[in-house]
Amino acid sequence: MSNKIDILISKEQLENRIIELGKRIKEDYQGKELVCVGLLKGSVVFISDLIRAIDMDLSIDFMKVSSYGKGTDSTGVVKILKDVDEEVTGKDVLLVEDIVDTGLTIANVKEFMAKKRPNSVKVCTLLDKPSRRKIDVKAEYVGFEIPDEFVIGFGLDYAEKYRNLSYVGKLTLDKENK
Ligand code: IMP
Ligand code: MG
Repeated sequence: MSNKIDILISKEQLENRIIELGKRIKEDYQGKELVCVGLLKGSVVFISDLIRAIDMDLSIDFMKVSSYGKGTDSTGVVKILKDVDEEVTGKDVLLVEDIVDTGLTIANVKEFMAKKRPNSVKVCTLLDKPSRRKIDVKAEYVGFEIPDEFVIGFGLDYAEKYRNLSYVGKLTLDKENK
């Protein structure tokens, strides 16, 4: 037997929504020095489509942070495994995430980034699970709000698998894999 995947957000829905987000971001960042910072690895599929939907000059950079132990109630601090290469002081940073779940990752990264004194730090996430928040953090740009389900595809993984799917699916593990 194998794991079951139900399509939650189709390729077409993703394409259309990312174009809308790109237009809004372009309007909001006119005259600014926009740096889109993707969080590895989950955001790579999203950021590659998003930047092509933002019709203005921008630069991209990446960060990688460790995940804190899941299932803890602590506001666990994430470790920075890879920092941005670019100088961001005075620039407008848009953090690009695959999903905001408890909010701990993005809250920590926002705080870390703010210390570099950019002109602004905002968050664009493809997916948002607001019902799971452990810390009060909001993304300024949200592709889709989703219920408390484990999702994969379009960059999101389960044990490093499924990132290459062109849709977002709900994953149900086969009994043997649990
Ligand atoms: P947070 O710190 O709890 O907000 O979690 C953020 C990270 O957990 C995301 O960047 C994902 O890597 C991972 N994550 C949370 N929910 C899911 C999911 O449903 N599928 C795959 N990864 C997830
Ligand atoms: Mg992630």
